[in-house]
Amino acid sequence: MKVGLLTGGGDCPGLNAVIRAVVQRMANEGGTCVGILEGWRGLVKGMSRDLHVSETDEIIAKGGTILGSSRTNPFKNPTTDLPALRENFEKMGLDACVAIGGDDTLGVAYRLHKEFHLPMVGVPKTIDNDLMVTDFTFGFDTAINIVTESVDRLRTTTESHRRIMVVETMGRHAGWIACFSGIAVAADYIMIPEVPIDITHCIEVLKRRRAAGKNYGIVVVSEGAEFPESGIVTVQDETDAFGHARLGGIGNVVAKMVEDSTGFETRSVILGHLQRGGSPSAYDRVLATRLGLSAANLIIHKRFGTMVALSGTKIIETTLGAGVAATKTLDLTYFDEASAFFL
Ligand code: F6P
Repeated sequence: MKVGLLTGGGDCPGLNAVIRAVVQRMANEGGTCVGILEGWRGLVKGMSRDLHVSETDEIIAKGGTILGSSRTNPFKNPTTDLPALRENFEKMGLDACVAIGGDDTLGVAYRLHKEFHLPMVGVPKTIDNDLMVTDFTFGFDTAINIVTESVDRLRTTTESHRRIMVVETMGRHAGWIACFSGIAVAADYIMIPEVPIDITHCIEVLKRRRAAGKNYGIVVVSEGAEFPESGIVTVQDETDAFGHARLGGIGNVVAKMVEDSTGFETRSVILGHLQRGGSPSAYDRVLATRLGLSAANLIIHKRFGTMVALSGTKIIETTLGAGVAATKTLDLTYFDEASAFFL
């Protein structure tokens, strides 16, 4: 069998571990793999490179994706891009395609399988951990460790200057990164998209803690957190090929409100793409490897239109349709637990 692999959407640590695992398992079965470059753009434009076992071992430690990525959506220009994509699929001689991506990339795989019967198998990835069915996505663990390490560094300067530090995390419309890293750094307050921002409560907590003797404070805010009246904060009005606005800047808004209301000197830090960079954690390498091996199994058994997912400690098969049905927002049990410290 000849299998095409592509990585689409925002990159995350662990993508290369999936590539390595699929290439190895296919080679074990006498198959070959070809890397499609830059996500769906590579299939539309016919850009690819061969992948061999001999060159994939060292990539397990490498962040990003050796194939490149893009947010290309072939359904945005259906009259030109879809015929080109299908033609290139034929030209490359592919028997199957592994799409490694988040809801957008997997949504395209789902439609290509459903509408054109292309043999697709999905692997879920994203630092946001917002994909249905799978308990955790690889990339998330690395991201929360980056946030944790960053805030541990910010804490020392924040404390020296008796300041409040507002740290903005990524995560789009799900609060997984903010909540998990907020718990890990003992944040004084956490703001997530799932719960409207209560700035008055945040200010009360910060003042109370200062009065009780803690002379600095850390607030973690998710980029997608919303004010009840004014909603989300975006970088600019433009949207990407999948219709998503670019989020960012809420940390600055929160910092100003906190400083104005408390009189405590306040700074904000937007961690941004640092959260997606660098080498994957051991946990993400292992999870990505297991998902890649199972995705190759699905291909070998011609289980197209499916994707792999983590359920508890097991890798399971689900459908692409189930995986992209909705956004998996934060399980609020975690936020309740975090809130025990906001008193
Ligand atoms: O989905 C991953 C993610 O990092 C989000 O957390 C963030 O909102 C978005 O991608 C940023 O996208 P870009 O890299 O296109 O700026």
